[in-house]
Amino acid sequence: MNPQTAERLAIWLDGRHVADLLRDPRASHKPYGLQYTDEITDSLDTGALCLSASLPVSRRLLVNKPKGGINRTGPVDHWVAALLPEGEALAIMENNAGLARGDTFGFLRRFGHDCAGAVAFLPPGDTPDTSSVPAPEPVDLAEAIGQLPYYPIAGYEHDDGLSLGGFQAKLLLTEAPDSTADLPRWIKPRLNVPSTHICKPDPIEGTTVGLVISEAIAMHALRFAEIDAAHTQLVDVEGRPVLLATRFDRLIHPPADADSHTSTISRLHQESLCQAVGVAPTERFQRFGGPTYAQLAELLLSHGLDPDAEQRALLAQITATVALGNTDAHGCNYGLLLRDGSARLTPAYDVANTTAFLPRRPEGHRIAIFPDEKDRLLYVGRKSLIAEATQWGLPASDAAEVVDQTISGIIAGITDATNHYDSWLQSSDPERRSNAQRAVEQMTQHAERLAATSEAPPNS
Ligand SMILES: Nc1ncnc2c1ncn2[C@@H]1O[C@H](COP(=O)(O)OP(=O)(O)O)[C@@H](O)[C@H]1O
Ligand SMILES: [Mg+2]
Repeated sequence: MNPQTAERLAIWLDGRHVADLLRDPRASHKPYGLQYTDEITDSLDTGALCLSASLPVSRRLLVNKPKGGINRTGPVDHWVAALLPEGEALAIMENNAGLARGDTFGFLRRFGHDCAGAVAFLPPGDTPDTSSVPAPEPVDLAEAIGQLPYYPIAGYEHDDGLSLGGFQAKLLLTEAPDSTADLPRWIKPRLNVPSTHICKPDPIEGTTVGLVISEAIAMHALRFAEIDAAHTQLVDVEGRPVLLATRFDRLIHPPADADSHTSTISRLHQESLCQAVGVAPTERFQRFGGPTYAQLAELLLSHGLDPDAEQRALLAQITATVALGNTDAHGCNYGLLLRDGSARLTPAYDVANTTAFLPRRPEGHRIAIFPDEKDRLLYVGRKSLIAEATQWGLPASDAAEVVDQTISGIIAGITDATNHYDSWLQSSDPERRSNAQRAVEQMTQHAERLAATSEAPPNS
């Protein structure tokens, strides 16, 4: 394929045109290459971190497989695929936009104005017009949530430009930075109005009714245990619990001076573990060839400013995963915040007790990524967590301290969260109430089981 005749989509990162995505429309819906702009290659070293650890800065065209045909899959289309929603939301959005299934390039051209991290996709030659911020358009939360089955992520017809990964139904919102009595709290996100919150309504029916209550409680327990975790709250929208998560990849800037009265919002870049190692989001589980904790620890070692602190934070997140009975902590649910060429672990997100929503398994539930090669939650003890971290190079005594503090913090945090969310645990919907209560019982059991396991001697 000749890059001169390829179709292009410009990738902007926090207001800067950093790269182009290329595809051959005659051959595939998927992009086959990514080319950093001269501005980037002139200002950053070859190999520097910019869009993704799997797409290091280069003057050369980054292709899926250097020697493969253009239809081969690889880091370029895996990175792109992770920016799109999955399952039903993806199919509905493709259908609404008249796109063929799997047309990731076309999807981002239409919906790629506000994504995970700081990227925005624009037709070549277009520039985000930062001088004009559109007039705020209010969002009616109940109405938008009611429209999600038809208009995923935006909640309104003709509101294109928003994309976010994951399976669960969700709505992107912007909290008006200077909301007053006459300006509503929630407004519609846009290219120049980054979304600030992710809103997840609890399912109305099915096996996961009550899951957002489990998520709110788990996230509260994490913060109680002093683990860096996204801020979340549960709100009542017409009797339905709705989780509101504050985006950690957004920054609010207060008015610059006395003359400008409005705050502004900017985007911070992030990527998932799957994107960082260049695997498809469909391979997010380790048992399907997905990434390992050792790979994440290695990324923090090579790109982190304080790798020791980052690895301790990672160990705390992994310990909490086991202590809460979360089987869903896969390669799309760990992430890196990328800034000025270095990487930090993102705050924890999408953490919930999931075992309460799965069929009973006397042999124990599987875990998404294996600590010390243990593939079931029940097999992971304090010893395995410490062994995992010592393989990354953390001293055993440091690892033991992190593991023990996390377990006791989580146990106390579950109690605190249970009191905080008591009214939702007494929900008038019998299925929601019993599922949410079972989630609390199961997180407590997992945490207490883990606390009772033996510790490895510090120098083992
Ligand atoms: N608080 C947050 N701040 C920024 N990005 C987030 C936050 N929570 C989730 N994300 C991003 O949104 C994606 C989907 O959210 P997630 O809660 O994982 O949904 P799902 O339950 O559908 O997997 C995540 O993979 C991550 O990229
Ligand atoms: Mg997720």
